[in-house]
Amino acid sequence: MRHILKSQDFDRDRIQSLFSLAKQYKTQGCTNNPMSGKIMCSLFYEPSTRTRLSFESAHLKLGGSVMGTDNAGEFSSAIKGESLEDSIRVISAYSDVIVLRHTENNAAERAASVSHCSIVNAGNGTGQHPTQSLLDLYTIQDKLSEINGIKIAMVGDLKYGRTVRSLAYLLGKYENITINFVAHPDMQISDDILVYLEKHNVTYNLLNNLHDVIDVVDVIYQTRSQKERHDADLSNHYSLKLTPNLVEKMQDHAIIMHPLPRNDEIPLEIDCSHKAAYFEQAANGLWVRMALLAQII
Ligand code: NCD
Repeated sequence: MRHILKSQDFDRDRIQSLFSLAKQYKTQGCTNNPMSGKIMCSLFYEPSTRTRLSFESAHLKLGGSVMGTDNAGEFSSAIKGESLEDSIRVISAYSDVIVLRHTENNAAERAASVSHCSIVNAGNGTGQHPTQSLLDLYTIQDKLSEINGIKIAMVGDLKYGRTVRSLAYLLGKYENITINFVAHPDMQISDDILVYLEKHNVTYNLLNNLHDVIDVVDVIYQTRSQKERHDADLSNHYSLKLTPNLVEKMQDHAIIMHPLPRNDEIPLEIDCSHKAAYFEQAANGLWVRMALLAQII
């Protein structure tokens, strides 16, 4: 039984075999129904559009069946006081894989410690979102042909966003990576990530202005303000919006990514730029999640 709990657990060989399978699904589809007779349960304690539906679509395309609940905090026995562990003990007896999104940072590990089936972390609190980072990395490789040597700017709410954390962990596996963390000082990336990057020889810069790197990066990874996770009103801290002028200054081959949903940090007029890769990125989620499911069950 294999779980997907955090990005660090993937090595480069595993990532490349995952990406080959994802590419195969993207270009040739899947005809042999490897998930026939298998049940995926999607258990979401936090809202989701792309993650839940792409996982469900992925499992259906692989010939499997899907059950589950969104708003699990209210629609499951959690509202009656049942612990996550008890819920997982029971649900894992009915399922072959549980795709879990939860409010708490250690929820996926807690679930895996008692589960009878594979657990996939679909985002836990401000911790990690490993499957998002895999589809992000797949998109970088697909669009730029190479991951080694890239310069990326991760922009926005880096303290409360989990996708940037997982992507930083994955990039730490590659060579000559430069990560520019561009954020208001109160929303800057946490020290644990910086310690990890130092250990893996990743060059990083902490910045609060996108102008400083706009013309040198290969990827702008924009994120929204995680308002629902802020204790205080930090709305004045979020001023790192892309503009058509900034996009003009980017290198021609460079791409703009965003895990979505977006608010106004990427204005709609940027959608028609050839640099806008965020909808393709979201679409890639299907193929990467098909490959993930096919490899763990
Ligand atoms: C992200 C998440 O849930 O962390 N969304 C997603 O899964 N694509 C990003 C976000 O909510 O801002």
